[in-house]
Amino acid sequence: MVTSPVKNNMIEDSNNIYKINPIINIKNLHFWYPDGTYALRGINLQVFDGDFIAIVGKNGSGKTTLAKIIAGLLKPKKGSVILFGKNLLHISRKEHIKLVGYSFQNPDHQLFCESVREELSFGPKNLHLNKKEIEMRVKEVAKMLDLEEYLDEHPFFLSKGLRLRVAVESILTMRPKVIIVDEPTTGQDWMQSVELMNLLKQLNSEGKTIIFLTHHMRYVAEFADRCIVMLDGRKIMDVPTRDAFSRFDCLELSYAKPPPVSLLTYKLFGVVALNMDEAVEIIKKQVIPNTSYR
Ligand SMILES: Nc1ncnc2c1ncn2[C@@H]1O[C@H](COP(=O)(O)OP(=O)(O)O)[C@@H](O)[C@H]1O
Ligand SMILES: [Mg+2]
Repeated sequence: MVTSPVKNNMIEDSNNIYKINPIINIKNLHFWYPDGTYALRGINLQVFDGDFIAIVGKNGSGKTTLAKIIAGLLKPKKGSVILFGKNLLHISRKEHIKLVGYSFQNPDHQLFCESVREELSFGPKNLHLNKKEIEMRVKEVAKMLDLEEYLDEHPFFLSKGLRLRVAVESILTMRPKVIIVDEPTTGQDWMQSVELMNLLKQLNSEGKTIIFLTHHMRYVAEFADRCIVMLDGRKIMDVPTRDAFSRFDCLELSYAKPPPVSLLTYKLFGVVALNMDEAVEIIKKQVIPNTSYR
């Protein structure tokens, strides 16, 4: 194999791009809770700079536990997690929140300040940034999420959708390299979910690594480059998103159904469409040349 020099953590040959040097490297990770519930059973996972990953799986499959370990909120019981080249156990809390931001499945477990402004300032204050820098970051993030008008509101009086956005905002003010959002589309309507997912897409295009946990396959198809399926504390699939939607056996095991549009084009033509635009193109190519219509 003839390879070009390493560039942006990738090696290219004539056919493929191989990513090297993962920013998160997890080996044989096990975790159980104090009551003896076994949540993770030997997870191996590599995350690369710039990845946009969806982790899917039915309730109780271990998604949140895995995310909390990467975010430093739970400690591995067995196995290792290397973050940016350093063992997670040797990373201080202050250092950790600059590397990984985690937005909780339930925003009410994350928001506890009297106003949205205080909520957004909390992280940067813990990083001991000066007042001017904190104000600048709060303004910048509030503008990005269109939440400026709510800065002086009490988070408690906001809708669930807005509280979720505040929870995501409050991790962005720490400018983490990796952003993990747990169930970003639960409890939100389609438009709110798409807005939030579009924000994650924008952050990804600006260089952030994104991991989102969900059981809504429509968002996986539309947004993720890579799809990881978990079942009973194990990773049972880790492939590019398009490939995931033709592996019905694995998806069925975890009760994850491909979106109807992917199912339709796959069953009719053996090709997976990830969204409506792709489906239209596939159908046009397959059907129109053979019809008697004009
Ligand atoms: N605090 C806890 N104490 C005991 N068991 C827990 C706790 N949190 C989660 N679990 C259990 O760990 C397993 C994995 O849960 P979780 O990581 O929340 O999965 P998911 O996010 O995929 O729904 C489940 O069996 C769940 O009941
Ligand atoms: Mg969960």
